[in-house]
Amino acid sequence: ERSLLGLKELSRTEIEGILQRASYWDKQEYKLIPVLQSRFVSNMFFENSTRTRFSFEMAEKRLGAQVLNFAAAASSVEKGESIYDTVRTLESMGIDAGVVRLKPAGVLQQLAEKVRVPLINAGDGNNEHPTQALLDMYTMQKTFGEIKGLQVSIIGDIMHSRVARSNLWGLTKMGASVRFCAPDNMRAPELDGEARYVDIDEALKADVVMMLRVQLERHASGMLKSAEEYRRQFGLTEERAARLGSRTVIMHPAPVNRNVEIDDAVVESAKSLIFPQMENGVPVRMAVLERALL
Ligand code: CP
Repeated sequence: ERSLLGLKELSRTEIEGILQRASYWDKQEYKLIPVLQSRFVSNMFFENSTRTRFSFEMAEKRLGAQVLNFAAAASSVEKGESIYDTVRTLESMGIDAGVVRLKPAGVLQQLAEKVRVPLINAGDGNNEHPTQALLDMYTMQKTFGEIKGLQVSIIGDIMHSRVARSNLWGLTKMGASVRFCAPDNMRAPELDGEARYVDIDEALKADVVMMLRVQLERHASGMLKSAEEYRRQFGLTEERAARLGSRTVIMHPAPVNRNVEIDDAVVESAKSLIFPQMENGVPVRMAVLERALL
């Protein structure tokens, strides 16, 4: 039984194992294969989510697990109960694993040291979002055959992005080359030296152009002066998308701020893998749940 807290700690062999198993689940003809029939999984979301929350639930149900959904807004967290007490409560009731999304970074690690059940990180602050990066890497592997040697540009609000961090750790281990592109006030100083920053024109010369959401809810006031100005300087506009190389693909973890970091018409254009990313999230999360529980 194994937790998945981040990709920084995961070996290349382990990442390859998860991607291989995701491919196995992706190929299954039957939607319901109940290998986790007697297992109870709680989805504990202390921060809002659509994709991660529902693709975990889809993955759990496809594997036949019993699912307990917890949303902070409808719980005793509203009365002041702590994250730790909430997870211990669910553990006392007999869950076999917890899928946890948290607003603060770093708390999940402490939590995992105090509880016995495996925990899966569904996004913790700006620290890591390992299953997002795994589904991103799985999507790249499906598209290009292998991840090794790919040039990946991650563009936008790097500072607040757990997706950028998990992809950086994972992609580098898998032999891809990662470059960042961001406004000066959205860079992540602690990642200096881990990836080179390039300007937008250089960033577009890549196999994968990964756009990030401008995370307004995590911004200090005034960080984004003008959405139109951001789009002009760092957005994947229709004009920029038209200049991409023939094999270049566009990714975005979503939710998307249409016409800010990416133009409306580009989101569902031929080069965009944004919806396939969501589709691939299900088999990837099936592989992660199986690893935690079997
Ligand atoms: N990509 C992602 O994590 O989306 P949600 O916040 O909707 O889960």
